[in-house]
Amino acid sequence: MDREQQTAIVTGGGRGLGRQIALTLADWGRDIVIADLDPEEMNETEQMVRDRGQSALSVQMDLRDPEDVTRTVDEALDEFGSVDVLINNAGIAGPNLPCEEITVEEWDNTIAVNLRGAFLMTREVIPVMKDQEYGRIVNISSVTGKRPVSQRSPYAASKLGLVGFTRSVASEVGEYDINVNAVCPGSVEGERIERVFERYAKARGTDSEAVKRGEMDKSARCELVKPESVADAVAFLCSSQSDQMTGQDLNISAGKVMY
Ligand SMILES: NC(=O)c1ccc[n+]([C@@H]2O[C@H](COP(=O)([O-])OP(=O)(O)OC[C@H]3O[C@@H](n4cnc5c(N)ncnc54)[C@H](O)[C@@H]3O)[C@@H](O)[C@H]2O)c1
Repeated sequence: MDREQQTAIVTGGGRGLGRQIALTLADWGRDIVIADLDPEEMNETEQMVRDRGQSALSVQMDLRDPEDVTRTVDEALDEFGSVDVLINNAGIAGPNLPCEEITVEEWDNTIAVNLRGAFLMTREVIPVMKDQEYGRIVNISSVTGKRPVSQRSPYAASKLGLVGFTRSVASEVGEYDINVNAVCPGSVEGERIERVFERYAKARGTDSEAVKRGEMDKSARCELVKPESVADAVAFLCSSQSDQMTGQDLNISAGKVMY
Protein backbone atom coordinates (compact mmCIF):
# COMPACT_ATOMS: atom_id res chain seq x y z
CA MET A 1 0.00 0.00 0.00
CA ASP A 2 1.25 3.46 -0.87
CA ARG A 3 0.95 5.02 2.51
CA GLU A 4 0.68 8.53 1.15
CA GLN A 5 -2.63 7.51 -0.54
CA GLN A 6 -4.74 7.58 2.56
CA THR A 7 -7.96 8.84 4.04
CA ALA A 8 -7.85 11.06 7.10
CA ILE A 9 -10.76 12.08 9.31
CA VAL A 10 -10.23 15.46 10.97
CA THR A 11 -12.75 16.34 13.67
CA GLY A 12 -13.37 20.07 14.01
CA GLY A 13 -11.88 20.50 10.54
CA GLY A 14 -14.22 23.38 9.70
CA ARG A 15 -11.96 26.13 10.97
CA GLY A 16 -8.89 27.05 13.01
CA LEU A 17 -6.28 24.42 13.68
CA GLY A 18 -8.48 21.63 12.30
CA ARG A 19 -8.74 23.41 8.93
CA GLN A 20 -4.97 23.91 8.81
CA ILE A 21 -4.40 20.24 9.68
CA ALA A 22 -6.86 19.18 6.95
CA LEU A 23 -5.07 21.34 4.37
CA THR A 24 -1.60 20.17 5.38
CA LEU A 25 -2.66 16.50 5.25
CA ALA A 26 -4.17 17.21 1.81
CA ASP A 27 -0.81 18.68 0.75
CA TRP A 28 0.73 15.37 1.90
CA GLY A 29 -1.65 13.56 -0.47
CA ARG A 30 -4.42 12.53 1.88
CA ASP A 31 -8.14 12.53 1.06
CA ILE A 32 -9.96 14.30 3.86
CA VAL A 33 -13.16 13.72 5.81
CA ILE A 34 -14.11 16.87 7.72
CA ALA A 35 -16.32 16.08 10.70
CA ASP A 36 -17.75 19.17 12.33
CA LEU A 37 -20.82 20.73 13.93
CA ASP A 38 -20.77 23.79 11.68
CA PRO A 39 -21.86 23.03 8.08
CA GLU A 40 -20.84 26.36 6.50
CA GLU A 41 -17.24 26.44 7.67
CA MET A 42 -16.88 22.74 6.94
CA ASN A 43 -17.94 23.26 3.33
CA GLU A 44 -15.32 26.00 2.95
CA THR A 45 -12.60 23.63 4.15
CA GLU A 46 -13.93 20.95 1.79
CA GLN A 47 -13.54 23.30 -1.16
CA MET A 48 -10.02 24.29 -0.05
CA VAL A 49 -9.04 20.60 0.08
CA ARG A 50 -10.45 20.05 -3.41
CA ASP A 51 -8.53 23.10 -4.64
CA ARG A 52 -5.39 21.23 -3.54
CA GLY A 53 -6.31 18.32 -5.79
CA GLN A 54 -7.50 15.90 -3.10
CA SER A 55 -10.96 14.44 -2.52
CA ALA A 56 -12.96 15.66 0.44
CA LEU A 57 -16.16 14.80 2.27
CA SER A 58 -17.98 16.89 4.88
CA VAL A 59 -19.97 15.17 7.59
CA GLN A 60 -22.03 17.34 9.88
CA MET A 61 -22.01 15.69 13.27
CA ASP A 62 -21.90 16.27 17.00
CA LEU A 63 -19.05 14.47 18.71
CA ARG A 64 -21.12 14.19 21.85
CA ASP A 65 -23.55 11.85 20.08
CA PRO A 66 -22.32 8.23 19.72
CA GLU A 67 -24.70 7.64 16.78
CA ASP A 68 -23.24 10.63 14.94
CA VAL A 69 -19.76 9.23 15.50
CA THR A 70 -20.72 5.84 14.05
CA ARG A 71 -22.37 7.53 11.04
CA THR A 72 -19.26 9.63 10.42
CA VAL A 73 -16.98 6.60 10.18
CA ASP A 74 -19.55 4.71 8.08
CA GLU A 75 -19.80 7.62 5.62
CA ALA A 76 -15.99 7.85 5.42
CA LEU A 77 -15.77 4.11 4.65
CA ASP A 78 -18.58 4.31 2.07
CA GLU A 79 -16.84 7.17 0.28
CA PHE A 80 -13.18 6.16 0.51
CA GLY A 81 -13.05 2.50 1.60
CA SER A 82 -10.57 3.02 4.44
CA VAL A 83 -9.80 5.21 7.43
CA ASP A 84 -6.04 5.38 7.78
CA VAL A 85 -5.69 8.51 9.89
CA LEU A 86 -7.83 9.98 12.65
CA ILE A 87 -7.13 13.45 14.02
CA ASN A 88 -9.10 14.07 17.20
CA ASN A 89 -8.91 17.84 16.95
CA ALA A 90 -12.35 19.26 17.82
CA GLY A 91 -12.39 20.92 21.19
CA ILE A 92 -14.04 23.66 23.20
CA ALA A 93 -12.49 26.06 25.70
CA GLY A 94 -15.00 25.35 28.45
CA PRO A 95 -15.78 27.79 31.26
CA ASN A 96 -13.31 30.42 32.41
CA LEU A 97 -14.18 30.27 36.10
CA PRO A 98 -12.80 29.24 39.49
CA CYS A 99 -13.47 25.57 40.21
CA GLU A 100 -16.12 26.26 42.85
CA GLU A 101 -18.21 28.32 40.38
CA ILE A 102 -18.32 25.71 37.60
CA THR A 103 -21.61 23.91 37.12
CA VAL A 104 -21.83 20.16 36.61
CA GLU A 105 -23.27 20.83 33.12
CA GLU A 106 -20.28 23.02 32.16
CA TRP A 107 -17.84 20.41 33.44
CA ASP A 108 -19.62 17.51 31.69
CA ASN A 109 -19.94 19.37 28.40
CA THR A 110 -16.23 20.21 28.26
CA ILE A 111 -15.26 16.61 28.99
CA ALA A 112 -17.93 15.31 26.57
CA VAL A 113 -16.48 17.20 23.61
CA ASN A 114 -12.75 17.18 24.39
CA LEU A 115 -12.22 13.77 25.97
CA ARG A 116 -15.28 11.55 25.51
CA GLY A 117 -15.56 12.66 21.86
CA ALA A 118 -11.98 11.51 21.21
CA PHE A 119 -12.77 8.21 22.94
CA LEU A 120 -15.90 7.66 20.82
CA MET A 121 -14.08 8.38 17.54
CA THR A 122 -11.10 6.23 18.52
CA ARG A 123 -13.31 3.34 19.62
CA GLU A 124 -15.05 3.47 16.25
CA VAL A 125 -11.93 3.49 14.06
CA ILE A 126 -9.79 0.95 15.90
CA PRO A 127 -11.59 -2.14 14.47
CA VAL A 128 -11.23 -0.65 10.97
CA MET A 129 -7.53 0.07 11.52
CA LYS A 130 -6.94 -3.37 13.03
CA ASP A 131 -8.44 -4.98 9.90
CA GLN A 132 -6.16 -2.81 7.75
CA GLU A 133 -3.21 -3.53 10.07
CA TYR A 134 -2.38 0.13 9.81
CA GLY A 135 -3.51 3.36 11.42
CA ARG A 136 -2.31 6.68 12.75
CA ILE A 137 -4.26 8.53 15.45
CA VAL A 138 -3.27 11.98 16.67
CA ASN A 139 -5.03 13.60 19.61
CA ILE A 140 -4.84 17.38 19.82
CA SER A 141 -4.19 18.05 23.47
CA SER A 142 -2.70 21.29 24.85
CA VAL A 143 0.11 22.51 27.07
CA THR A 144 -2.70 23.79 29.30
CA GLY A 145 -2.91 21.10 31.91
CA LYS A 146 0.81 20.41 31.84
CA ARG A 147 1.42 24.03 32.81
CA PRO A 148 -1.08 25.24 35.43
CA VAL A 149 -3.58 27.79 34.11
CA SER A 150 -6.08 29.07 36.64
CA GLN A 151 -9.82 29.13 35.96
CA ARG A 152 -9.58 26.51 33.19
CA SER A 153 -9.86 23.32 35.24
CA PRO A 154 -12.29 21.30 33.02
CA TYR A 155 -10.27 22.16 29.90
CA ALA A 156 -6.97 21.27 31.63
CA ALA A 157 -8.42 18.00 32.92
CA SER A 158 -9.75 17.07 29.48
CA LYS A 159 -6.48 17.86 27.73
CA LEU A 160 -4.21 16.07 30.23
CA GLY A 161 -6.76 13.25 30.20
CA LEU A 162 -6.10 12.94 26.47
CA VAL A 163 -2.42 12.34 27.18
CA GLY A 164 -3.25 9.42 29.48
CA PHE A 165 -5.75 8.12 26.94
CA THR A 166 -3.10 8.36 24.20
CA ARG A 167 -0.55 6.33 26.16
CA SER A 168 -3.05 3.68 27.19
CA VAL A 169 -4.53 3.11 23.72
CA ALA A 170 -1.06 3.23 22.11
CA SER A 171 0.00 0.30 24.27
CA GLU A 172 -3.09 -1.68 23.19
CA VAL A 173 -2.79 -1.33 19.42
CA GLY A 174 0.91 -0.98 18.57
CA GLU A 175 1.22 -4.57 17.35
CA TYR A 176 -1.29 -3.77 14.58
CA ASP A 177 0.93 -0.95 13.27
CA ILE A 178 -1.46 1.57 14.78
CA ASN A 179 0.32 4.53 16.35
CA VAL A 180 -1.42 6.85 18.79
CA ASN A 181 0.23 10.14 19.69
CA ALA A 182 -0.75 13.52 21.11
CA VAL A 183 0.26 17.00 20.04
CA CYS A 184 0.19 19.72 22.67
CA PRO A 185 0.06 23.22 21.18
CA GLY A 186 0.83 26.39 23.10
CA SER A 187 -1.13 29.57 22.29
CA VAL A 188 -1.80 29.46 18.56
CA GLU A 189 -1.98 32.65 16.46
CA GLY A 190 -5.47 33.44 15.20
CA GLU A 191 -8.83 34.96 15.98
CA ARG A 192 -9.58 32.63 18.86
CA ILE A 193 -6.47 33.59 20.87
CA GLU A 194 -7.02 37.31 20.14
CA ARG A 195 -10.48 36.99 21.71
CA VAL A 196 -8.95 35.24 24.74
CA PHE A 197 -6.39 38.07 25.12
CA GLU A 198 -9.17 40.66 24.98
CA ARG A 199 -11.13 38.79 27.64
CA TYR A 200 -8.10 38.54 29.94
CA ALA A 201 -7.24 42.21 29.34
CA LYS A 202 -10.74 43.28 30.33
CA ALA A 203 -10.62 41.15 33.49
CA ARG A 204 -7.20 42.55 34.46
CA GLY A 205 -7.88 46.17 33.49
CA THR A 206 -5.10 46.27 30.93
CA ASP A 207 -4.92 46.19 27.11
CA SER A 208 -4.82 43.08 24.98
CA GLU A 209 -1.41 43.93 23.46
CA ALA A 210 0.11 43.79 26.96
CA VAL A 211 -1.55 40.44 27.61
CA LYS A 212 -0.29 39.13 24.27
CA ARG A 213 3.28 40.33 24.97
CA GLY A 214 3.16 38.65 28.40
CA GLU A 215 1.97 35.42 26.80
CA MET A 216 4.72 35.49 24.19
CA ASP A 217 7.35 36.15 26.86
CA LYS A 218 6.37 32.89 28.59
CA SER A 219 7.88 30.94 25.69
CA ALA A 220 11.59 30.40 25.05
CA ARG A 221 11.20 31.79 21.52
CA CYS A 222 9.06 34.75 22.72
CA GLU A 223 6.40 34.07 20.10
CA LEU A 224 3.00 32.53 19.56
CA VAL A 225 2.64 29.22 17.75
CA LYS A 226 1.75 29.21 14.05
CA PRO A 227 -1.11 26.86 13.04
CA GLU A 228 1.19 25.54 10.27
CA SER A 229 3.74 24.39 12.89
CA VAL A 230 1.10 22.32 14.67
CA ALA A 231 -0.20 20.89 11.38
CA ASP A 232 3.34 20.00 10.26
CA ALA A 233 3.89 18.06 13.50
CA VAL A 234 0.59 16.23 12.97
CA ALA A 235 1.54 15.37 9.38
CA PHE A 236 4.92 14.08 10.59
CA LEU A 237 3.16 11.81 13.12
CA CYS A 238 1.04 10.43 10.25
CA SER A 239 4.03 9.81 8.00
CA SER A 240 6.43 6.92 7.63
CA GLN A 241 9.14 9.16 9.13
CA SER A 242 7.63 8.58 12.58
CA ASP A 243 6.78 4.88 12.26
CA GLN A 244 8.42 4.02 15.59
CA MET A 245 6.89 6.86 17.59
CA THR A 246 3.80 5.98 19.58
CA GLY A 247 2.33 6.98 22.93
CA GLN A 248 4.13 10.32 22.80
CA ASP A 249 2.94 13.84 23.59
CA LEU A 250 4.75 16.37 21.47
CA ASN A 251 4.78 20.00 22.62
CA ILE A 252 4.52 22.57 19.86
CA SER A 253 4.71 25.59 22.13
CA ALA A 254 7.70 27.67 20.96
CA GLY A 255 9.37 26.41 24.13
CA LYS A 256 6.66 27.46 26.59
CA VAL A 257 6.52 23.94 28.04
CA MET A 258 9.46 21.54 27.95
CA TYR A 259 8.05 18.47 29.70
N1 LIG B 1 -6.04 27.71 19.44
C1 LIG B 1 -5.19 27.46 20.42
O1 LIG B 1 -4.46 28.35 20.91
C2 LIG B 1 -5.05 26.05 20.96
C3 LIG B 1 -4.01 25.74 21.83
C4 LIG B 1 -3.89 24.46 22.33
C5 LIG B 1 -4.79 23.47 21.93
N2 LIG B 1 -5.80 23.78 21.09
C6 LIG B 1 -6.75 22.72 20.72
O2 LIG B 1 -6.78 22.60 19.31
C7 LIG B 1 -8.08 22.18 18.89
C8 LIG B 1 -8.61 23.15 17.85
O3 LIG B 1 -8.64 24.45 18.41
P1 LIG B 1 -9.04 25.75 17.58
O4 LIG B 1 -8.38 26.88 18.23
O5 LIG B 1 -8.83 25.51 16.14
O6 LIG B 1 -10.62 25.82 17.92
P2 LIG B 1 -11.84 26.42 17.08
O7 LIG B 1 -12.88 26.79 18.08
O8 LIG B 1 -11.38 27.46 16.12
O9 LIG B 1 -12.33 25.16 16.22
C9 LIG B 1 -12.91 24.02 16.86
C10 LIG B 1 -13.75 23.27 15.85
O10 LIG B 1 -14.36 22.17 16.52
C11 LIG B 1 -15.74 22.11 16.17
N3 LIG B 1 -16.53 21.52 17.26
C12 LIG B 1 -16.74 22.03 18.50
N4 LIG B 1 -17.56 21.24 19.19
C13 LIG B 1 -17.87 20.18 18.38
C14 LIG B 1 -18.69 19.04 18.55
N5 LIG B 1 -19.37 18.81 19.66
N6 LIG B 1 -18.77 18.17 17.51
C15 LIG B 1 -18.11 18.39 16.35
N7 LIG B 1 -17.32 19.46 16.15
C16 LIG B 1 -17.21 20.35 17.16
C17 LIG B 1 -16.13 23.57 15.93
O11 LIG B 1 -17.31 23.67 15.13
C18 LIG B 1 -14.88 24.11 15.25
O12 LIG B 1 -14.92 23.93 13.84
C19 LIG B 1 -8.94 22.13 20.16
O13 LIG B 1 -8.99 20.81 20.65
C20 LIG B 1 -8.19 23.03 21.12
O14 LIG B 1 -8.44 22.69 22.46
C21 LIG B 1 -5.96 25.04 20.58
